[in-house]
This record gives sequence, structure tokens and C-alpha cells, in this order.
Amino acid sequence: MRSLIDIKELSLEELDSLINTALDIIANPSKYNEKCRGKKLATLFFEPSTRTRLSFEAAMYELGGNVLGFSEASSSSSAKGESVADTAKMISCYADIIAMRHPKEGAPLVASMNATIPVVNAGDGGHNHPTQTLADLLTIKRKKGRFNNLTIGLCGDLKFGRTVHSLISAMSRYEGIKFVLISPTELQIPGYVKTEVLDKNGIEYVETTDLVGAMPELDILYMTRVQKERFFNEEDYLRLKDSYILDLAKLSNAKKDLCIMHPLPRVNEISVKVDSDPRACYFEQALNGKYMRMALILMLLGIK
Ligand code: NCD
Repeated sequence: MRSLIDIKELSLEELDSLINTALDIIANPSKYNEKCRGKKLATLFFEPSTRTRLSFEAAMYELGGNVLGFSEASSSSSAKGESVADTAKMISCYADIIAMRHPKEGAPLVASMNATIPVVNAGDGGHNHPTQTLADLLTIKRKKGRFNNLTIGLCGDLKFGRTVHSLISAMSRYEGIKFVLISPTELQIPGYVKTEVLDKNGIEYVETTDLVGAMPELDILYMTRVQKERFFNEEDYLRLKDSYILDLAKLSNAKKDLCIMHPLPRVNEISVKVDSDPRACYFEQALNGKYMRMALILMLLGIK
């Protein structure tokens, strides 16, 4: 029985295999629509979500399975004081696989140590978000056709942005990757990501506050939302929230084949005028998330 808590748990071969399954699902959807008949996915969301929860649910329905769960901590027994460990043990009696989002870093790991069914981390606090990275990887594959020799700009809240931490971890395993880390100084990438991921893998990176200056060299620009819910005081959030707003003028020096990504939800980070630029990939990225979650569910349930 296997869970997915951190993207590093998947080998490069397994990532390739998930991507190939997702591409086959896109090409031959009818081959897959009975694969999870009789299986149940439990979505345990202790934090708000639109894409992650609904794409997990859509993924399970498109595989012919069923879904149960909750979308607010207040409607579950955690509001009565039940521990994550007990909740995980209980849900193991009712479902075949769990997708869990939680504001506390490490909560899905605790769930996986107590569940008797696979647990997928659907976002734990400001830490990790491996299934968003699966969506990101399929997007990069479909848009760029490769995972090596790419200069990747990550812009916005690199401190609390869990999608950024997981994406850096995944991309640091490929050759010829350079990261340009664009953020206000207060929202720079955490020290542990630098030492344990970037430095450990000998990855080239620069930190800057200048989005426009970085633009010409980027193959991928990954914009992120300032993570309001992780701030200790509102004043800091209000001061930092609109640090970067990507508009068409800022793209004037960008490569013609730049791939603009964003895990969404967007607040102000990308002007809606950018949406119709052919370089905008973020809505397609959200769709790719459903296919990768389908591939992941099949893998964790051991279904061929
Ligand atoms: C992200 C998350 O929850 O971390 N959203 C998502 O799952 N696509 C990004 C965010 O909330 O800013």
C-alpha cells in the first residue's frame, strides 16, 4: 500500500509512466471509464479548494468510481476535537483512497501513517502540494516537450507557496535546469529548500526582486498568489499582495514560446488581458491536473 505525500517519493520513471498514462487517457478516454468501478475516493478538505478537490472528484467519476467526503473542517469531527490519526483510521473503513488537504504541515503524512488505504497529500499548509506538481509537469511536457535545459522563473510568494516548493523539488532532478526566484525579500524561498534541494542537487539559481529584468531569459514563468491565509498580520499582506502583476507590457521582452503558468486561484497576479495571449497556459494546466490525478489514482490503487 502506497501513499503520495511528497513528490520525491515518485521516481523519474514513475513520473514518466504517470505522464504516459495521462496522455493515453486524453487520447482514449473511453478505455478508462470503468477502471475504478466500485471504488471510493474520500476527499478530506480541511482548507478551501476549488480545483484540487473538484478535479480529484471529476477524476474519480471519470474512472467510474464514487466520491465521498467533506470540504470544510467545521463539518467534520475535527470540529469536535478528533485527531487526524483517528479520522484517517475511520475513513479507511469507508473508502479505498484518501485525498487530504490540511492547514498543518505534515497532517497528510500523519494520516498516511494511520490509514490502511493510500493517502494523497492535496496540500499541507505552506509545505508541499505534490499533485499540483503532477499537473505542472504534464503542462511542461505538453508545452515544451522536455524537462531538461529550461530556465524557470518562479514569481510571487515563494515563502508560503507550497506549489513552488514541490515544483522545485521535482524539476531539480532534471539536467540543465536554472531557477530565477522572483519575490519581495520578505517572501523569498525558505532556507531549507535552498540547502536541501537546490544546493544539494547543485542547481543553478538566482534570487531577484525584478520580474521585468528576468523576463528575457525565461522558458517558463510560474506566477503565484500571495498566500493571505499564512500571514500573521494583515498589514504585511496588504503591503505585499500586489508586488507583481503580470500584464502585456511586462511580456514585451519575453520569449515567443514562453509558457506562463499559475496554479490558480489568481487574485491580481495576472491581468485578465494576458489570458488570450497564446503563451498563457494556466487554464490548460488546471485541466491537466484532472488527467494526472486520474493516472495517480490508478497507480495507487494498483489498477492497470
Ligand atoms: C494552490 C494551493 O492550494 O496551494 N492552489 C491549487 O491547489 N491549485 C495555490 C494557491 O492557493 O495559491
